[in-house]
Amino acid sequence: MKSFIILLLLSTIYCGTSFDKANKDNKNNSQLLQSAFIAQFSGRSQIGYNWNLPNDFPIPSVPRENPMSEEKVTLGRFLFYDKNLSQNQTQSCSSCHLQEFAFTDRKPFGIGSTAEVHPRNSQNLANVAYNTRLTWSNDKMTSLEIQARGPMFGTSPIELGLSNDDYLNRLKSDSRYRTLFQSAFGGGIENITEQNVRFALSSFQRSLISGKSKVDKYLNYGDKSALSSSAIRGLAVFNGETAECFHCHGGINYTNSMTHAGTVFEEVSYSSNGIISDTTYASLPDNKKGLYEVTLLQTDIGKFKPPSLRNIALTYPYMHDGSFTCTTASPSDIENCSTEALGKVIDHYASGGLSHKNKDPQIRAFTLTPQERTDLINFLKALTDDEFISNPKFSNPFQ
Ligand code: HEC
Ligand code: HEC
Repeated sequence: MKSFIILLLLSTIYCGTSFDKANKDNKNNSQLLQSAFIAQFSGRSQIGYNWNLPNDFPIPSVPRENPMSEEKVTLGRFLFYDKNLSQNQTQSCSSCHLQEFAFTDRKPFGIGSTAEVHPRNSQNLANVAYNTRLTWSNDKMTSLEIQARGPMFGTSPIELGLSNDDYLNRLKSDSRYRTLFQSAFGGGIENITEQNVRFALSSFQRSLISGKSKVDKYLNYGDKSALSSSAIRGLAVFNGETAECFHCHGGINYTNSMTHAGTVFEEVSYSSNGIISDTTYASLPDNKKGLYEVTLLQTDIGKFKPPSLRNIALTYPYMHDGSFTCTTASPSDIENCSTEALGKVIDHYASGGLSHKNKDPQIRAFTLTPQERTDLINFLKALTDDEFISNPKFSNPFQ
């Protein structure tokens, strides 16, 4: 099994976590901190919202305090794309999470509103509703509602850089927002609050469901012509015991760190896939060392959450440090850049990875024929969901 797995019985553990970087500007959030742990009882909060889920997708879990509604999703979409959500009004969430790139930004590291470089790569948001933990390696990020504080208020690094209530006053003075907040939360201007901003952002992000790729059409929609014969062989390589990809990137979201409304035991998984050696880790600051930054356990150096591989052909550069990308093809040439970058990822795994004491035992050298390597690339590229990146419901509402 994974080198670091917690099987966490929901609702048994609640560590009154202090939210070092992100909570200093927050009030009235305490009720929410517990919400991730009661998510399993939230089935009834789904009533009244049409998820329109792809075949075979379970209903996501939703905190009881923040049930889904069309109105919140609509409000959250405006907020997600609104530069008023940064202190200097230069950035919104969408500055680093672009729909055309499956909500990543095609940069090795996120760059915040004050030009500070984030220690990690901007993550894709497809099916983020199913993630057991958010971010690459912070196991305290148990819900979208909590995670949103990071980009909004975090000071190390600064992303949106909010440091006072100016952004709320900007929203309050906009009649469109007064209407949107009233539809979403009822009441008047007093409901334009920091917590409701995060709640609406979370509802919008939960609506970002991706499950109509060619692989889905082949596996779940009975469309046997959706995949090329090469991609079909690649699916077998992916799920085979030689390459072992599925152990960490399995299930409908192509990650082993997934939860949904029916989940009883939550699997939280962090592992090292051996892209950085012990020698290099020794010279890196703590914020580049994965889960270790939070737990300070030597055994957590280099451990990260296995990301979902959905839309992977669009989300290069890869890994938490954006270190796997194309160098021969042009980055704007999706077809060739993704082929080259995914080839490098596969070659990395086939090599067995670098020397690192916490490297997962499943990362060990294997051999693929050139055909199998091409087949695996073609399978990964068939995880692109064109409907997802062109869905008008997820696009910038200000345009
Ligand atoms: C400066 C670029 C930037 C901005 C602006 C930004 N993000 Fe992110 N986002 C990132 C980076 C980088 C990560 C990885 C964070 C980490 O590992 O610590 C991330 C991670 C996330 C995740 C975790 C995804 C997962 O799969 O675990 C979510 C959710 C998210 N961001 C939502 C938002 C929201 C909501 C906003 C606006 C309030 C926002 N982001 C603004 C760069 C950004
Ligand atoms: C032991 C678990 C494990 C196995 C097995 C594994 N991976 Fe990963 N994978 C990870 C982790 C963890 C990361 C993130 C590492 C990081 O950023 O430092 C990752 C990252 C990736 C990424 C980059 C994703 C992104 O959004 O940047 C790709 C692509 C990928 N893996 C493909 C594969 C393929 C293909 C295989 C099989 C050959 C495979 N993985 C096997 C754990 C695993």
